[in-house]
Amino acid sequence: MDHLISTRDINKNEISNILKIAEEMENLLEEKKPCEFMKGKLLATLFYEPSTRTRLSFETAMKRLGGNVIGFTDAKSTSVTKGETLRDTISVIGGYADLIVIRHPYEGASRLASECSKIPVINAGDGSNQHPTQTLLDLYTIKREIGKIDNLNIAFIGDLKYGRTVHSLCQALSLFENVNIRLISPKELKMPQEIIEDIKSKVSLEEMEEMDLENIDCIYMTRIQKERFPDPNEYHKVKGIYKLNKSQVENKKVIVMHPLPRVDEIEQELDSLEQSVYFKQSFYGIPVRMAILKLLYKSNNQ
Ligand code: CP
Repeated sequence: MDHLISTRDINKNEISNILKIAEEMENLLEEKKPCEFMKGKLLATLFYEPSTRTRLSFETAMKRLGGNVIGFTDAKSTSVTKGETLRDTISVIGGYADLIVIRHPYEGASRLASECSKIPVINAGDGSNQHPTQTLLDLYTIKREIGKIDNLNIAFIGDLKYGRTVHSLCQALSLFENVNIRLISPKELKMPQEIIEDIKSKVSLEEMEEMDLENIDCIYMTRIQKERFPDPNEYHKVKGIYKLNKSQVENKKVIVMHPLPRVDEIEQELDSLEQSVYFKQSFYGIPVRMAILKLLYKSNNQ
């Protein structure tokens, strides 16, 4: 693996390997053992869009591996404002750092960056397209909290049109055996047809508007992505459409996931339930991203 741009680029064996190494990384974190795998190495985090979890967990992961981090969190403070192209920025950073993590508002920006980079590029989210490292930590969460990924019954709820985490995760789940996916969204925010076409022969799929949670092992809630709506009136039509409350979850054998941030789609009263694993999920971002950094650096420096 030279870069990590899309879940379409990775196979089931590669996913299993990343999850296995993530488990070793979690043990390492638990034992508080020092690690020097990335000593003397630099990670560049190029965030052209806001982030809390992805950026800070990559930064934590790199530092836990003994490496260091440079980067920016606001493109307005960079030479983009003077007209510098993404291609030139990537060429320059390639002379400073050993790996690049990039989040960008435009679909395809990470792919373009990888095509002109001499160091590994990791997609931390490109527009509404893909968020592959979120997918890997989501799969890790499902495996850790349910014990398996095969035979999973999962419901994705909310903004399935603009939510890049659900696009990536649905494609990755289609590599596993006997996965049943229920897509719950308003008609305005349905899963894009090209993703349905891509996975429909590999998983069992249902699409609906009502929030039917019968026979579901994993509820994957998502935020309505206000910032991606071309027309604010369209956002107001669907704002707050799905809200998960305690009575829908307690005493049920189900886990509740969310890539976060949440707005109002999961009531705070759920936070104390053992079924609610969304904060654990964001913690798992650290061992999973440690595994991704280690593997990508190793495969490019053998
Ligand atoms: N899940 C996720 O991508 O969160 P951030 O936007 O805070 O990075």
